[in-house]
Amino acid sequence: MHKSFKNIIVLISTVLLGISVFQANAQGIENLIPVPAEVNINNGEYRFDGEPKVKYVALPEGRMPAESYRLKVDKKGVTITSSDPAGVFYAQQTLNQLISDAEGQKSIPYCEIYDYPRFPYRGVHFDVSRHFRSVDFLKKQIDAMAMYKMNRMHIHLTDAAGWRLQIDAYPRLASFAAWRPQHQWKDWWAGNRHYAEEGDPGAYGGYYTKDDMRELIQYAHNHHIEVIPEIELPGHSEEVLAAYPELSCTGKPYTQGEFCVGNEETFTFLETVLDEVIDLFPSEYIHIGGDEANKEHWKKCPKCQARMAEEGLQSVDELQSYMIKRIARYVESKGRKVIGWDEILDGGLAEGAAVMSWRGTEGGIKAMEMGHDVIMTPGRYCYLDHAQDAPFKEPESIGGYLPLDSVYVYEPIEPSMPQDKVGYLKGVQANLWTEYVVTDEHAEYMYWPRTIAIAETGWSQPEKKDLADFRRRVLLALDCLKNKGYATFDLASEYGERKLAQTGLEHKAKGCKVIYNRPIQDWYQAAGEKTFTDGVIGGWTYSDNRWQGFLSDIDVTVDLGNVQTVSYVGGTFMQLIGPGVFMPSKVDILVSEDGENFTLVATVWNDVPVTTPDLLFKDFSTICDCQARYVRYHAYRSTMRGFLFLDEVVVN
Ligand code: ACM
Repeated sequence: MHKSFKNIIVLISTVLLGISVFQANAQGIENLIPVPAEVNINNGEYRFDGEPKVKYVALPEGRMPAESYRLKVDKKGVTITSSDPAGVFYAQQTLNQLISDAEGQKSIPYCEIYDYPRFPYRGVHFDVSRHFRSVDFLKKQIDAMAMYKMNRMHIHLTDAAGWRLQIDAYPRLASFAAWRPQHQWKDWWAGNRHYAEEGDPGAYGGYYTKDDMRELIQYAHNHHIEVIPEIELPGHSEEVLAAYPELSCTGKPYTQGEFCVGNEETFTFLETVLDEVIDLFPSEYIHIGGDEANKEHWKKCPKCQARMAEEGLQSVDELQSYMIKRIARYVESKGRKVIGWDEILDGGLAEGAAVMSWRGTEGGIKAMEMGHDVIMTPGRYCYLDHAQDAPFKEPESIGGYLPLDSVYVYEPIEPSMPQDKVGYLKGVQANLWTEYVVTDEHAEYMYWPRTIAIAETGWSQPEKKDLADFRRRVLLALDCLKNKGYATFDLASEYGERKLAQTGLEHKAKGCKVIYNRPIQDWYQAAGEKTFTDGVIGGWTYSDNRWQGFLSDIDVTVDLGNVQTVSYVGGTFMQLIGPGVFMPSKVDILVSEDGENFTLVATVWNDVPVTTPDLLFKDFSTICDCQARYVRYHAYRSTMRGFLFLDEVVVN
């Protein structure tokens, strides 16, 4: 062969080889989760055996933004530049995702990455009260959180279902309030909700010793994750008041879940507990709960009433606020800050307190406007206790429907937020309440992959986010997690939303006026008076703004605009007995030409038992052959009371 031709072939094959390898690795960069801020991919790859050669360039603190890093890969190897250890750690996480090991040859594509977080707080919440989890389980979740650059573990240590932390000054918290006779939360909840002595036959529960917790905190710290303890007050504290009944208004166990705010001993207790908690946990924030307190007892309690009089408090909301403010001052006197659920706004927010906004984002926005730090964890996007796929194929859950896509599309910065206050929004958090999540495997299934969506929302720049691309990347991430032994949800076989909810429905009444013979109610209005004829069909959950909810009969008349042939009238209801959603007992369907004289076409009776635990849908419909301008659809509320939910009145 001619020599120069041979040289050309060598040259071309090198180029071709270069291109193919380059493409393979470029995909590696495009698989990164969370997606980095700035990426330049260069031609070529750094190959190595064993460990890559990594040069670290430590800049003086403050030279680069907190947690940021530069990662450069070229023929000399890897260079990581950062001005803080967290940045170096995150560069290493990125590097781990970039290393490909094809047929024993390790390589990293030549690239330059500059990366930094969008928000400083990227959290995951662990409800270890409803079902206790081992330190090993928590460490395993820390491993995964760190891979996706999450940095806060919020641990819900106390709640009615069990107290989970050894407190030296109050030993009954661990020896009694941490145990219950029933393993499953729902059995305990359905029973008399009593506790058990540690060591009683069959006693279920557990608690972390101080050493357990030190071990967890250190492990988390090594992964640049801060553990934030939550000690609930004033509500969700039945377990404390069973162990120390003198701290409740009645002085008796099993009578309430709220501390007596009038009793000084309550403050002695809480301050002593918080002293031990603060000694143990080095976190910036101490979470003090604050959610869902039932304040009724305080209205009847002489001590609480005396406190209100003494402090000039006008309402029980202000009494709660008194307690939160007093505890916040105490925590601050120890050099820490408090954070609480958004109810801590009620009755006046404590100075310096941060707010975790869960009942939507309104509370968080209000707190930001007042100059308080906020973590967003709105239930609609961040509550992983909702089913992540079609409820008929999912394990029992608290209800609702929160697929991966809905978590991912959450944008924390809303247009209505005042621009000069946006800096108070410190981050986002995934929450998993575990009433129905008994096993570790089930918990992992609920966390992964939805937590990765929150990780990317918390870390990546919004313009870099892309749902379709995220789904592609997350499938690869799930393979990686499964290989590491995580019991993840199987995204590849996701069923998805109700089909009609995806497509909508064309029918004769679409766009027609609806007359409400009973008024729309406040709670679930969906699209208001347009709901029943907008062609928008409800999804798996009544809280998706497509279903209209009533605590009464639903009685509406659809005006078709002119007299025409009507051959079908129907509507779909759902039943979910947990939150009290029932089928109607019957539906009357009537028609009229003039809007005054109606003829009954059909009565459709319910045949779904009110005891069925699963989410069910049923059409209450009839075929007919009539001339009508007006169609009246009257659904009778179930004798079980509860809600009726209807999405559309379909006429054809
Ligand atoms: C909460 O979900 N009760 C904070």
